[in-house]
Amino acid sequence: VFNKVSTLKEFVNNCKFSKKTIGFVPTMGALHEGHLTLIRQSKKENDITICSIFVNPTQFNNAIDLKHYPVKHTEDKALLESIGCDIIFLPSVEEMYPSGLDNKNLVGFEFGDIEKQLEGAFRPGHFNGVGIVVSKLFHMVNPDKAYFGLKDLQQFLIIRKMTKELSFGIEIIGVPTVREDDGLAMSSRNLRLTPEERTKGPFIYEIISEMKNKLDNSQSPKEVLDWGIQKFQKNTSFHLEYLEIVNTTDLKPVDPYQIPASYAIVIAAHLGKVRLIDNLLIE
Ligand code: PAJ
Repeated sequence: VFNKVSTLKEFVNNCKFSKKTIGFVPTMGALHEGHLTLIRQSKKENDITICSIFVNPTQFNNAIDLKHYPVKHTEDKALLESIGCDIIFLPSVEEMYPSGLDNKNLVGFEFGDIEKQLEGAFRPGHFNGVGIVVSKLFHMVNPDKAYFGLKDLQQFLIIRKMTKELSFGIEIIGVPTVREDDGLAMSSRNLRLTPEERTKGPFIYEIISEMKNKLDNSQSPKEVLDWGIQKFQKNTSFHLEYLEIVNTTDLKPVDPYQIPASYAIVIAAHLGKVRLIDNLLIE
């Protein structure tokens, strides 16, 4: 476990010197099977796997959300050790942001249209914070490959764009969403669902899977979207924030007359106090 950037960099330099490849999995901790799947894939494809655990203040636009973010270092370390992750990078806020968190001290990102849709529209400044922390971590870890979950599709697309535009030379790998047996996408937030809410959670996956079936059977996006929205209007347990069928270049709604080769059904919905997101890619 490294807490200092300097020790991490020394280790990374030694890996480079001995021509060992490095796989990197950035996380905010409170690890579950979704995170562990990323680590396992990195272990298969690289000599050394580094996992970072850092609850990044600059990507939270809601102070209460940041305060309540679960911290489980002991459990996380045990899990990572049990699957043979080589290194954990666990820095403090001061170590990551030595000049402080004041906006005027930070370099900012502007990702264009892709950050203004969906999650970006509901969480202003979120992807700027993600861009800042991930680019800092990329400089520190200097990996060959970095692993991101497709559950956070917009984050994956933005990081892939940033990596290309800033010439990091890191291969960005998207790992399919890991789900509970009943279909609910794994997330640290699921722990905050009451037992009754938890039984209702799989409704999201049920509806978007049915929407995918309908699209696969050549029903029009508009018809399919109306069907999905109506299902949520009838289910009063959920408060729908967005449900859309978007392309994967700029996350704008697909043109019904020109359906692209790759697009996605994306959703965010509140179940009780918990905001859940999910998506299904259609290739
Ligand atoms: P965090 O929410 O901890 O997620 C870390 C990684 O695990 C992300 O790439 C996320 O997409 C992936 N992940 C989460 N749940 C998953 C699931 N059910 N299936 C597959 N992958 C899953 O995302 C972040 O942290 C932060 O924004 C971070 C990138 C670390 C920057 O601070």
